[in-house]
Amino acid sequence: MKLAKRLLIATAISGLFATSSVAGNADLVKEGEKIFNEKKLGNCLACHGANGKDINNPGSFGPKLQYLEAWPEDALYAKIYDPYTTNPISAMPAFGKNGWLDDKQIKALVAYLKTIK
Ligand code: HEC
Repeated sequence: MKLAKRLLIATAISGLFATSSVAGNADLVKEGEKIFNEKKLGNCLACHGANGKDINNPGSFGPKLQYLEAWPEDALYAKIYDPYTTNPISAMPAFGKNGWLDDKQIKALVAYLKTIK
């Protein structure tokens, strides 16, 4: 009985960890890619090329996004939520703080950004 209880707790805890990390969640990655590319959602593509692609739109002054799997998830989240906390003169809009993207959408973007090479 005791062992069963312990196993139950261990499963619950590992379940918690699994849901707190968004990397590798295929549905979220797909959703994040959509938000990244869609004008009425993130429109990140307006400023950022991803996966080695160069974009050449007028105003596309954001850095080419690369190797983001090395970033901790909460750093990516914070960057999208409010880039001014790490860069007070950032030209990137504060998507979370401005209320343009909600928590779920930012998490989906983080899952997608982690897949960018
Ligand atoms: C208006 C242009 C603009 C848009 C739109 C924009 N960004 Fe940015 N982004 C920038 C600029 C400029 C920087 C570099 C300055 C900085 O780090 O704050 C940057 C930096 C970043 C970085 C850090 C990259 C690195 O290597 O340091 C990430 C990650 C990022 N943006 C993700 C996003 C995502 C995701 C979106 C869409 C929700 C987005 N950006 C939309 C302009 C933009």
